[in-house]
Amino acid sequence: MSESNPSASVEQTGEADASGSCADPTRRALLTALAGCACLAAIEPAFADDEDQPGASERPQKADLLVRAEGDKAGEVIKSDDLTLGGPPIRAWPKDPKSSVVRKGSRLNEVVLVKLDPNELDDATRARAPDGIVCYSIICSHAGCPITAWVKEEQGDKNVLKCLCHNSEYDPRQNAQVVFGPAPRRLAALPLTVADGAITVAAPFVGKVGAQQGG
Ligand code: FES
Repeated sequence: MSESNPSASVEQTGEADASGSCADPTRRALLTALAGCACLAAIEPAFADDEDQPGASERPQKADLLVRAEGDKAGEVIKSDDLTLGGPPIRAWPKDPKSSVVRKGSRLNEVVLVKLDPNELDDATRARAPDGIVCYSIICSHAGCPITAWVKEEQGDKNVLKCLCHNSEYDPRQNAQVVFGPAPRRLAALPLTVADGAITVAAPFVGKVGAQQGG
């Protein structure tokens, strides 16, 4: 997600065809070369040797750190102060603090964090969002495209997480429930804790990760 332009994603070129083809331009070429496309949650490609390390495809686990998934600071551990209230969101991978393995062997492990006013959050969301930092799976529940935009909602004034493939919108203040578009269910939430500014995973994903077709 672009940090310089909160109203638009750096990946707004991402689109999917009716078959749900992959929309992540950062990986599309490679995925296409490998197997057509891996948007469907059941497909979990390995992208590089370091992503084949033991644990790289395991789901986020308690005490995992979160590291930036893109940009000049890719790989850096994300701290509470790195997030700006109201966005933009930051894309991240979980990282095993013991082995230092970044769990990017599965695209289902990528998440998006955004810092919000805790008073805006509903009770369930606030319970797993220390300092108002919410964290969700980046995989759209419709056809598995990545959530790439942080934009004004279609029917309101607040920013929402948006999948540009078919315009599904998720409200991060309400447990990422669907507020617009064809997505059938909310995004999976990743509970967090913050201690001395360090963000860590508090528990495994809550809810189903991936698209409706599988995963
Ligand atoms: S994949 Fe269709 S709206 Fe996200």
